[in-house]
Amino acid sequence: MPSPSTSTGAAGVRPSEFRYRCIACGELSATASQDFRCAQCADLLEITYPRWKTARPDCSGLMETWRNRRQSSNPVDLSGVWRFRELLPALDDDQQAITLREGNTPLYELPQCARSAGVDHLLAKHQGMNPTGSFKDAGMTVAATFARRAGFRWVACASTGNTSASMAAYAARGGMRSLVLVPEGKISWSKLSQALDYGAVTCQLRTDFDGCLRLLQELVLRAPVYQLNSINPFRLEGQKTLALELLEQLEWQVPDHVIVPGGNLGNSSAIGKALLEMYELGFISRMPKLSVIQAEGANALVRTLREAGGKRLVSVPAETRATAIRIGNPASWKKAAHVLKATGGACEQVTETEIAQAKAEIGAEGIGCEPASAVTLAGLKKLVKQGFVKANETVVLVLTGNLLKDPDYTIDFHRGDLFKGTGDEGATQSLEKLRHPPIVLDATLDSVIRTLEQADKS
Ligand code: F0G
Repeated sequence: MPSPSTSTGAAGVRPSEFRYRCIACGELSATASQDFRCAQCADLLEITYPRWKTARPDCSGLMETWRNRRQSSNPVDLSGVWRFRELLPALDDDQQAITLREGNTPLYELPQCARSAGVDHLLAKHQGMNPTGSFKDAGMTVAATFARRAGFRWVACASTGNTSASMAAYAARGGMRSLVLVPEGKISWSKLSQALDYGAVTCQLRTDFDGCLRLLQELVLRAPVYQLNSINPFRLEGQKTLALELLEQLEWQVPDHVIVPGGNLGNSSAIGKALLEMYELGFISRMPKLSVIQAEGANALVRTLREAGGKRLVSVPAETRATAIRIGNPASWKKAAHVLKATGGACEQVTETEIAQAKAEIGAEGIGCEPASAVTLAGLKKLVKQGFVKANETVVLVLTGNLLKDPDYTIDFHRGDLFKGTGDEGATQSLEKLRHPPIVLDATLDSVIRTLEQADKS
């Protein structure tokens, strides 16, 4: 395996356009080591654009450029990520971008869910409508592009499924090999099948996600592979564009609340970074409150904020059927704690029953999402009850993954099997109205008509 440069800043990347900044000690650097940790204090890095201080981007000019690019047929303009490239690390040549036309995701009204949550107006930004079915594509197009520019043949990630599906797709499109580390038996077959089809070397490790990520961090220091987890700050730059696209869809009218699921906490950090940058640059004159919702069984950030005042990470042994966020030791906890504080957002946890109910309610709107995304609606209900979200405020839920990402969960729910043997079996009864199990019938007209008549009465 030929060894590329050990510095991710050395080959291809123009350091004059951006710097790496340590989130703890503030150290600025033009290059980063393979594990994307600060050379001084080993904390995480973020990307910063010193040029913005002296040459502020022209907001209204950019808004117009971004709008006009929608009419273009240039692949970087068709991408809902690269369309906003003035706020991303610069490419020497637009054609370098590895793109699958990510982004450009719909913003849906959720009127029934709004009623159920107790708000007048509820929107969902559906990142599950990305090319591989999750929000990861927005970050992956940027990070995979920079991996290739830096000369890497191999990219790698630890994943609960979606990152690996996305990474494998972008690596394949970009002519790179990919190595996937996933916890054995703890990710959905649907996500695993994507990684296989896109040609990844897929390792099912006998550990959890946190164990996979620990191993990856050691691996990247020993082997010439480029890591594409959200520790990689290029990922977060791409994921920032969710907020830009959302504000553009809202004609730059700022919503009161944006609510996201929290797992490894890269996405909340990215959205928060975008909101702070948009505010500083003058794209918006106030900030939405960014809130993070976790599953009760994987509530490291909730506990970190409540028990340690956000000063040190409280890790947890993670367990939830929302396997995408089955993470107990989130890498980006400090970044997430910072953006929650800076935007005035909340952090809540929801039970398995609440997640199942919310997921079924989002499905009943004809939209659907994977279980991890549904924590947002379940969390909103709590935030409304607590008075943190007012009925007349505008709320945007970020739906992170497509319904088809985890069909086993959905089928188990509708068949009444989701809570079997879990101690939550009472929930099956209470959620009866939301269940639509398949019905096995003799192939006769009579039996189908009888079923139709019965269903019409219910
Ligand atoms: N929703 C979905 C559908 C996810 O796949 C993930 C994370 C999250 C929410 C949480 O986002 O980690 O940025 O806080 N999935 C990662 C993966 C961990 O490997 O696919 P986060």
